[in-house]
Amino acid sequence: PESVVVAVDGTSGSGKSSTCRGVAARLGLRYLDTGAQFRAMTWFMLEHGVDVHDAAAVAARCAEPAIVSGTDPSDPTITVDGADASAAVRSAEVTAAVSPVSTVPEVRKRLLQLQRELIGGGGIVVEGRDIGSVVWPQAEVKVYLSADPAARARRRIAEHAHLGDAASAEAGLRERDRIDSGRATAPLTMADGAVHIDTTDLTLDEVIDLVVGLVEKAG
Ligand code: C5P
Repeated sequence: PESVVVAVDGTSGSGKSSTCRGVAARLGLRYLDTGAQFRAMTWFMLEHGVDVHDAAAVAARCAEPAIVSGTDPSDPTITVDGADASAAVRSAEVTAAVSPVSTVPEVRKRLLQLQRELIGGGGIVVEGRDIGSVVWPQAEVKVYLSADPAARARRRIAEHAHLGDAASAEAGLRERDRIDSGRATAPLTMADGAVHIDTTDLTLDEVIDLVVGLVEKAG
């Protein structure tokens, strides 16, 4: 139905973004990339010379940036203070700094508010780490995606050749998973009622079909 909320959580590089955009496009739903919001916050901190490992300094400035998420699955732009930051938030610098910034409770509280405003109308596929557990536990469909770390690293390299070799990509993904799973506030976890899909040996189309099937069954 058009009011459905689909919550998709999982580890870094498990295929959440491609899956969610594909599902939203197939079903005519909106799409929200909450990871991009945490990346936008991180980009703002780096641009303003804030030490991303100083939680108090991050907390003190996290109310400042105006972060606006586009929800069109074919063009999910994100703007920070009016400027398109869609490419900037994917940089290696932001990727390395985003997990520490995301541990700060004030950051999570601020973005939670933005997320709930956008999800409120329903008809949306939302990806992140804590959507089914904290942001929108009442979601009609909850999915947890995972994949073998080596497979995740290979996919990342195939997508972004500039990220270097598979071994360092895998180390980066594992480090983000470690911080994201271990933090005190809203850690990455499999939400109650989530359907676990291991994408290691599945194609993107197969994963999209599985999730579309869950949404159709729920409606
Ligand atoms: O999904 P993506 O890899 O772009 O997310 C970047 C980072 O943002 C994650 O590694 C995590 O630290 C943080 N994040 C989060 N909660 C979410 C989504 C992302 O903490 N709901």
